[in-house]
Amino acid sequence: MMRNEQLWMAPMLGFNEYQFRNIYTKHFRGLDAIIMPFVTLVEGRNVKMDHIKDVWPQNNDCNVALVPQILGNSGEMFFTMNRRLKELGYSEVNWNLGCPAPRVVSHKRGSGLLPYPETIDQVLETVFQNQNIDISVKLRLGYKSPTEIEKIVPILNRYPLKSIVIHPRIATQIYDGMINLDAFERLLPDIHHPVVYNGDITSVERFHILKNRFPQIDQWMIGRGIFWDPFLPERIKGIYHETRESAKFRFEAFHRDLFDAVVQRSFLERNALNKMKEYWKYFKELYQNGQDIFDKIKYCNSCKAIKERFLSIYNEESFKNSLGYPTS
Ligand SMILES: Cc1cc2nc3c(=O)[nH]c(=O)nc-3n(C[C@H](O)[C@H](O)[C@H](O)COP(=O)(O)O)c2cc1C
Repeated sequence: MMRNEQLWMAPMLGFNEYQFRNIYTKHFRGLDAIIMPFVTLVEGRNVKMDHIKDVWPQNNDCNVALVPQILGNSGEMFFTMNRRLKELGYSEVNWNLGCPAPRVVSHKRGSGLLPYPETIDQVLETVFQNQNIDISVKLRLGYKSPTEIEKIVPILNRYPLKSIVIHPRIATQIYDGMINLDAFERLLPDIHHPVVYNGDITSVERFHILKNRFPQIDQWMIGRGIFWDPFLPERIKGIYHETRESAKFRFEAFHRDLFDAVVQRSFLERNALNKMKEYWKYFKELYQNGQDIFDKIKYCNSCKAIKERFLSIYNEESFKNSLGYPTS
């Protein structure tokens, strides 16, 4: 891997809030930056501290750059939020133009803004009139059509954005279906800002295929790939030197810390159980008997039971020979 290549962790609401970020970066290397899950813009001149708990500096103890992300469509509210985030010490804010959730889209937010380039323009105009912090955007190719972005790029080009993160899918695909690398490739010459590529980086092989096709890109964002294989950034950067056993040992140390944090922050036992089950939809890919392991985890109905299950996984189960979610 070339030296100036940068790896970003993608925002994943419900998965990489501050406890996860702190624990992940304590146990694994290879990341340069993390975009945090989105904070929704709110009315009013002041942003309440409780609303932005996930970005409080005292909650965040990572040795990588952190970038808060906002979701909304009001330039004024965006500006107010930026002021608050700057006070907290942040130097960059990312604008979410990709979220495909129906509740978000129906309020013309996230990917719901992609069919409205003029609204995107208005918001950026207001924000940049009073610019107080670096701005980047994260977007998809479109809401319904991959050509929607063609009208947005000339608008983005007019503003001094820090970078543009592109996930080359349309919103109606949610997170599945083919990524549209041809459309992404056609766009690249027209974009004046540094581009961060995001989407389906699930293995070192997959990363190299993308890197070979897009040698001009040197910033890469990984979301689900990190949950399928937490060592992926280390492996892409060529700093992964584990045996199957030592990798398993490291993963389990990380997992113990994560489980403790999830239990500690959950108000109800049920919430902690559900959260761990969500994580294991991904983590199961690390183990040889992943599906059996996950099926047993699914039936645990108390923290005591799931903890016992985890102990038996640590003691009895083996990691796969080669990690990485097999999609390439
Ligand atoms: C559970 C989940 C939560 C997500 N939350 C956010 C979010 O808060 N902000 C955002 O811009 N994208 C969000 N995304 C999209 C990811 O950041 C990323 O763009 C997408 O997963 C594709 O990248 P990947 O193939 O590397 O996972 C989320 C995705 C998932 C699966």
